[in-house]
Amino acid sequence: MSLQKHLCLLGFMGSGKSTLGKALAQHLGVSWVDSDSWIEEKQGRSITEIVSDKGWPVFRAMEREFTFEMNEKAPMVISCGGGFPLDDENWQWISNNCISIYLLVDKDVLLNRLIDETASRPLLKDKPRAELMQYIDEELTKRAPVYTKADWVIDANGSIEETLLKIMELI
Ligand code: S3P
Repeated sequence: MSLQKHLCLLGFMGSGKSTLGKALAQHLGVSWVDSDSWIEEKQGRSITEIVSDKGWPVFRAMEREFTFEMNEKAPMVISCGGGFPLDDENWQWISNNCISIYLLVDKDVLLNRLIDETASRPLLKDKPRAELMQYIDEELTKRAPVYTKADWVIDANGSIEETLLKIMELI
C-alpha cells in the first residue's frame, strides 16, 4: 500500500514508538524518522544535554523545526517523542498532516520497560521504582486526553511483532 500522509506513532516513553516505527517503515517500504534522533543529530548532542542547557521550551521549538522539515518529505513513518503531541502547534501539525496512532500500554508494563532506563531519560532522572510508578501514573493521566485524540488507539502491550501486525491490519 502507498501512504498518503505521514504515519505518526505517539505514546509514552517505553511504548515502542521507535522500534515499531522502524519495523513498520520497513514493511511499508517507506523511510522512517524519529523526532528525538533527528534533533540530536542536528544539534550534535543528546536530548538530556539540550534540555538541561536550554530548557524544554527551546526543545519544543526544535520539535517544530522538525515538523517544517517533514513538510518537505514524502509520506513516511515518524516516531514522535513522547511529549511531542502535548504542544498545541505540534498537535495541529499532526492532525493536519499525519495519520496518527497512539500506542496504548498499561502502566505496569511501562514501569517494567522503563525501570532500567531512568538514567538515560531526562524526565526520569534515576527515579527509584515507587517514584517512577507514581510519575507514570500521574503523567499518563495528564497526557491521556491528548494521546487519545489520535486517529487510532491500539493496544501495544504485546510484543513488537504482535503490535506490528495490528497496525498492518489497520492501515
Ligand atoms: C519525552 C519523551 C522523550 C523525549 C523527551 C521528552 C516526554 O521521547 O522526547 O525526553 O515528554 O515524554 P521518547 O518518548 O521517544 O523517549
